[in-house]
Amino acid sequence: MNRITLNYLRKLKREQQKFACLTAYDASFAHIMEHAGIEVILVGDSLGMVIQGHDSTLPVTMEDMLYHCKLVHRGTQRALLMVDMPFMTYATPETALINAARLMREGYAQVVKLEGGAWLTETVKLLTERGIPVCGHLGLTPQSVHQFGGYVVQGRRESEATQIYNDALALQAAGASLVLLECVPVELTRQITHALEIPVIGIGAGRMCDGQILVLYDMLGITVGKRPSFSKDFLAETGEIGSAIKNYVSAVKTGEFPSDAHSFGT
Ligand code: KIV
Ligand code: NA
Repeated sequence: MNRITLNYLRKLKREQQKFACLTAYDASFAHIMEHAGIEVILVGDSLGMVIQGHDSTLPVTMEDMLYHCKLVHRGTQRALLMVDMPFMTYATPETALINAARLMREGYAQVVKLEGGAWLTETVKLLTERGIPVCGHLGLTPQSVHQFGGYVVQGRRESEATQIYNDALALQAAGASLVLLECVPVELTRQITHALEIPVIGIGAGRMCDGQILVLYDMLGITVGKRPSFSKDFLAETGEIGSAIKNYVSAVKTGEFPSDAHSFGT
């Protein structure tokens, strides 16, 4: 296997080198981003919004994810492939195991991503003991948008921040290989990244984490409606997709992106 491994990401963390991730949903974009130096590709359930035109990720199905995984896998050779488990496909540990196995076996995923903290520890343990690496997604978890009452920054209140911090530790203790933080204040990201041995990937979480991720269509400026404030249109500067992604990769590696303007304070 010539693909980037979790060991390699851990090595980058130890050496304090940052890595760059993007979402992809098809072979062509996945191919371009891999050649531009993207280390981790996420087949995100954001496809429900940017590909399918829904106003949330909730309608996305296992069949949708499997289809897009296969396309992205076919377009790549080197990037580490991470895949989202859709809404309610990991509601119990046993369902999670069956669905995660399909994403690995039929979708060629190397890591599955689940939204949630302490309540997921039993599931994370079950999956990892059976050879399925897990990324735990914390902070603004879009599958809970109705619970949150909108896409709003998480972890600004002290009690919320403590909860997210403890969730991150619980996920690592349960065997998670990665943690992804979405829309949390910079200082919370710094504390979690420092406390965890496993790599931490951020989106709208400031520059202090080990890896950065953006939704491809946001960073190309082709998202319908308002682009999230933490994202940046990298295509505007170059007018060429490959160069836009190369610029993103180098801005992540140098720590230039995300700037304070693309981050949340306390
Ligand atoms: O689905 C997605 O694109 C994601 C990223 C925002 C991290 O989960
Ligand atoms: Na997602």
